Amino acid sequence: MSPVAPSPSAPITDPDHIPVLLSEVIEGLNPKDGGLYVDGTFGAGGYTVALLQAADCIVWAIDRDPEALERGKALADSYPGRLHFLHGRFGDLASLLIENDVRAVDGIALDLGISSMQVDDRSRGFSFLRDGPLDMRMEKSGMSAADAVNTLPESELADIIYKYGEERFSRRVAHAIVMARKSRPFSRTIHLADTIRAEVKRSQNGIDPATRTFQALRIYVNDELGELERGLSGAEQLLSEHGRMAVVSFHSLEDRIVKSFIRDRSGRAPNPSRHVPAPTAGKPTATFSQVNGRAITPSKREVRDNPRARSARLRIAERTALPPLTTVQGGAA
Ligand SMILES: C[S@@+](CC[C@H](N)C(=O)[O-])C[C@H]1O[C@@H](n2cnc3c(N)ncnc32)[C@H](O)[C@@H]1O
Repeated sequence: MSPVAPSPSAPITDPDHIPVLLSEVIEGLNPKDGGLYVDGTFGAGGYTVALLQAADCIVWAIDRDPEALERGKALADSYPGRLHFLHGRFGDLASLLIENDVRAVDGIALDLGISSMQVDDRSRGFSFLRDGPLDMRMEKSGMSAADAVNTLPESELADIIYKYGEERFSRRVAHAIVMARKSRPFSRTIHLADTIRAEVKRSQNGIDPATRTFQALRIYVNDELGELERGLSGAEQLLSEHGRMAVVSFHSLEDRIVKSFIRDRSGRAPNPSRHVPAPTAGKPTATFSQVNGRAITPSKREVRDNPRARSARLRIAERTALPPLTTVQGGAA
């Protein structure tokens, strides 16, 4: 790494967004002069700027939110020829890069979920604390949260709220939504939040009962878990030998996917039965090696300075020389 150390005070596109686990991500990726890196979740550009400052490298920055990239454009002038923007989803990262004649990279960072700018902008409809249109689409296109709650059958809504929100009163919440939409379809965040609050009591730890259902709808509307699975496969395809990926997740559903992907791809998946040989026994198939055994979590100081960091978990893995198990088309390699 060059002598320019990553700094959390790096000038980014929005001072309200504090990058989470910044030094740990940059240290994990260990950027090198002349290297090629992908920031799959540009946001306010915190990781991108730190990578560009840490080494004389090139960064390809991806975000599905057109507003994030619009804000970021000015940054490109500060790093002539070293920062390229791609509007799209990190689930398509391999094809996005290949379309731009980039077939191998040295590091990939993913900082999952939404940015402070997205939560704080009431017109985006992510927050149950501020009234706004019930939208939640990062891309500003496709099915909105209002479309989902106004049209999905009750049982499907209940499944979504249970699976992606881990809400144990999912059936009750779904029923209340379906009853309420008969007289007045949902169009505002507050209408939905109040409908949920009327059904589910605030838990002892003070968490707003709307939290879990809002999380579920956001994950559903943006297909966040599908994106993550495709993004991890894309990273496997694009990373060169010794290239690293660093993934920061914010809830157990995401972390479980990252953890089991790294475990499976590093040949650590448990054998289902000790009497049956593992299907790949004797065959070296590990496409990644795990860099950190336990997830890296923020320090007490980071959580104090940035409460949004409290549930963050970072996992880092390094690519081996073996060919990827899946290709960009999703077929076996
Ligand atoms: C937590 S923020 C990233 C913050 C960034 N690391 C920083 O330091 O400024 C997440 C960003 O990723 C974007 N995003 C989320 N899912 C995405 C996906 N599947 N593809 C591309 N961008 C995505 C969101 O629009 C948001 O801007």
